[in-house]
Order: sequence, then structure tokens, then C-alpha cells
Amino acid sequence: MADETLPARVLSGIQPSGTIHLGNYFGAIRQQVALQDEFPGECLYFIADYHALTTLRDPVALRQNVFDLAVTYLACGLDPSKSLLFRQSDIPEVCELTWLLSTVTGMGLLERAVSYKDKIEQGIKPSVGLFTYPVLMAADILIYQSSLVPVGKDQVQHIEMTQDMATHFNEVYAREAPVLRRPEWRLSKSPYVPGIDGRKMSKSYGNTLPLFLSGKPLKQAIGKVVTDSTELGQPLPWKTDNVYALLELLANEDELFEIQGWYEAGSREGQGFGYGHAKQLLAAKLDEHFAPIRARREHFLAHPDEVEDILRESAAKARWLARATLDACKQACGLR
Ligand code: TRP
Repeated sequence: MADETLPARVLSGIQPSGTIHLGNYFGAIRQQVALQDEFPGECLYFIADYHALTTLRDPVALRQNVFDLAVTYLACGLDPSKSLLFRQSDIPEVCELTWLLSTVTGMGLLERAVSYKDKIEQGIKPSVGLFTYPVLMAADILIYQSSLVPVGKDQVQHIEMTQDMATHFNEVYAREAPVLRRPEWRLSKSPYVPGIDGRKMSKSYGNTLPLFLSGKPLKQAIGKVVTDSTELGQPLPWKTDNVYALLELLANEDELFEIQGWYEAGSREGQGFGYGHAKQLLAAKLDEHFAPIRARREHFLAHPDEVEDILRESAAKARWLARATLDACKQACGLR
């Protein structure tokens, strides 16, 4: 089962946490969508709705967040003929595997989880579900025999725990013929995306720029990005400017070289070039970049049935993999 002949398989779980912003797009979504063409193997993406229940207790919001996230990924180019996009809770086998793993996982391992401690400190109620979050996450990964999990720094420990659980389960129950594949993690290469106050763009700082603004609301939002007080006509420091940092995410090298020139001269084609102009440029670039994405989004918002069909078809395929792993695990520990 867990042998080298399995195809390479990349897996990512995405939290349906509400507001989707430019930080999510440039920090994660764009790379995940690119992987479907770059990764020499299969790409599985799922919306971690079971995990969301550890922090979100609003059924209307949860339903809405899951739908919005699916629409966003599809709009941003996730192609269901190349990748799978499904809801975690459409694969109930994940919960069964969670139980099996929990019986071979020491309390000590979970007690060392940094993210659990962080969440408690943030004031989240310490439920059993929150505590065993890493076991559910391990089941997510192991059930599809995933080989690679791209993660942010905050999730590395969870993958290391997953590796431990896989090794341990195999050692306890399947020494001769391992049933779980040990996954590797890779830090996602995400650029720094400043929020409007210059700190990392994040929902918890309340400094985000939403993904789907255009026209005037977009210009207004960008107007709020903090800059220094260099006067129009003076050289502007591009290296430390937040507007430039956002432009850097969108423009190609030649364009950036030209923009640096305008910043350094404080002028463009004989006219003064100040932060207001840089912001106009940024708004225009964002508007242009997201135009096709907004159009696809409109399409999916108007056709929720299509979105549901995609999620279900993907889940049906993912479930085949999940059943095979669960069967092997049940067999290994004597439940069958
Ligand atoms: N814990 C991850 C996060 O907060 C989400 C997640 C759940 C996940 N299951 C996963 C990520 C499996 C990768 C693989 O971002």
C-alpha cells in the first residue's frame, strides 16, 4: 500500500475562515493553483470544514465561508480537470482514521503542539476537538497517501506530528507491509504581503485588502495604504514603501525597474511622481490582474449548482483513495 510506486501527491487543506484577502491570494492561492501545472503528480485541495468547527460556531457563516472559498479557488484558476477540490466533511473516512490514529498517539505529543497553546492564549475555548486538531490533520494527510504538503511555518510542527503518527502506526500494526506513507513538508515560498498599515496582511490585524474590489472602492481601499510623508517631487524610498511592495507582487521585472526609476527621480515623464501616483498605478494593476478572476467569480456565484457538482465529483474521487487506506488500516489493526 504505502510503497514507492504510489504517484506523487500534493495535498493542501484550506481553512474556511471568512474574508479572503490579497495576502491569501499572493501568499497561498496563487502558488497552489500554479502547482496543478508545475507539480509532477496529483494535486488534492480540500476545504477544512471539520477543522473550522473548532473555532467557528455559526452554521450560516460556515456554509457561506465554504462556498466563498470554493468559488474563490475556482475563480482563481483551480481547474477541476487537473486538481481535486473537495470538502473535508464529504470524506467521513477521515474521522474514522482520526480515531485509529488517536489510539496510537501519546498525550505528550499533542501537549507539545504550539498552535494549540497559541489558540488558547488567543481566548479560543480549549475543547477536546481543538486539542486533537493535529490528529484530524494527520488523518487528512495520511488517508490520501500524500507525499508532499506545502505549508506555512506555523504548520510545520503539525506535519512533523503527522510523520510521527505514520511511522508509529506502521511500527505498531504494519511492520512487514506499511500501510501509511510518510509525507514530506515544504515551506511554501510566499512573498511578504504588507497590509494597509505595513504589517503582514492578516485578518487578525484588521489591515486587509479584499480580493474582489474594483473601480472606486478599490481606489479608496488602496488610498488607505500607509506611506511616509515625502513630498511630491522628492525622491521616494521604494525599498521601504508598502505601495511598492504590493506593486512588486504584480509587475514584471522590466516594469519594476521602470517604477523604481520614477520613485528615485520623484518624477515620471517630466511630471512629479508621488505616492498618489504610485497608488493609482497599483489600483490599475490590481484591476487588470483580477478582471478575468472577477468575471469567473461572477459566473460561479450565479451558478452555485456547478460549484456543488465540482465539490461532489472531486470528493467521490478522493473517497476512493480514502477508502483504500482506511480498509488497509482496519485490516492491519484487526478490525477486519
Ligand atoms: N491546519 C491547517 C491551517 O490552519 C489547515 C489544514 C487542515 C491542513 N488539514 C490539513 C493543511 C492538511 C495541510 C494538510 O492552515
